[in-house]
Amino acid sequence: MKEVIIGGVGKYIPSKKVTNNHLSEIVDTNDEWIFSRTGIKSRYISTGEDTSYMAAMACEKAIKEAKTSALDIDLIVLATCTPDMFTPSTACIVQSIIGAKNAVAFDISAACSGFIFALDLAKSLMKMHNYKHALVVGAENLSKFIDWQDRSTCVLFGDGAGAVVLSRSESSGLGNSFCKSDGDKWSCITIEGSDIDSPFVDSKTIRESKLKMNGNEVFKFATSTIVKSINKMLEENNLSLEDIDYIVPHQANIRIIEYAAKKLKLPIEKFYTNIHEHGNTSAASIPMALSDMYEEGLLKEGNKIILVGFGAGLTYGATIINWSI
Ligand code: COA
Repeated sequence: MKEVIIGGVGKYIPSKKVTNNHLSEIVDTNDEWIFSRTGIKSRYISTGEDTSYMAAMACEKAIKEAKTSALDIDLIVLATCTPDMFTPSTACIVQSIIGAKNAVAFDISAACSGFIFALDLAKSLMKMHNYKHALVVGAENLSKFIDWQDRSTCVLFGDGAGAVVLSRSESSGLGNSFCKSDGDKWSCITIEGSDIDSPFVDSKTIRESKLKMNGNEVFKFATSTIVKSINKMLEENNLSLEDIDYIVPHQANIRIIEYAAKKLKLPIEKFYTNIHEHGNTSAASIPMALSDMYEEGLLKEGNKIILVGFGAGLTYGATIINWSI
């Protein structure tokens, strides 16, 4: 079997829903500002669930939907910028929770583009090593790295996880994809990590452990790359926008998506959005959106869908899929 399809999809969201009004009790903000600038009304915040736990719950759901078993999983690629620990990888902890004893498991770090990068990598590895089933996961616990005093960032993000099972097939599900990085702009979004306090370093280096972002710079980058990425996918596949059933963009800001719709002269309904409910869940946003679309019955076999991601790094990428379940 030469090709790779999505055989199952699942998501997990924490039970704690935090509305814009809740946030206005923590920082100087209000529902009107947040909704008009971002399209966000609420987000779900971990009350102790780790990234690994949320990822594992999403994986179990996806495995069930794919009618396979954890023991049949050969590969777990988990995209996150908020792992449980520096080491081991969150993917290894997920492997243990779900009992995927036969898999090789590791994390990748490409922030909000992570799921696109992970899909691309998993597809290639499956073909190279003849793996039958793989889990590709996007999972984030951003709330633990948010500066809850910084109103310009704390209103934007949410927690959650989404996962897909990839399976080998004769028919083509995952089409071509591309991944790009612009490392010169690495400082636009950072979570620096822990301080460096070593006897071999003259003075202690203080690192900023909370998320910092140049919102305006990222906004400009996102609006240009989303349009560029969709056009690239169309060109490479010899397709026009009429051939595409849905575009599933990274859910960062509704204004970024509205900009893309206007620029491409597409009705906004062609873009699936759930940002009003979840906020920006970074690497989890695209698989969570796919899971919601599946649960809402929007996805029909044969649908052509473009997934497009962009985020810290700066990174961006896209892929095209023929829906198959
Ligand atoms: N509530 C109320 N006021 C707020 C606020 C909040 N939560 N956050 C910022 N403000 C204020 C600012 O302090 C500023 O006030 P000032 O004019 O008195 O200085 C004013 O609102 C405008 O701030 P600005 O940063 O210019 O707002 P903006 O319209 O550019 O929107 C973002 C800010 C963050 C929403 C926008 O830049 C953005 O979405 N960027 C992309 C971020 C993103 O998607 N990142 C992830 C990519 S993967």
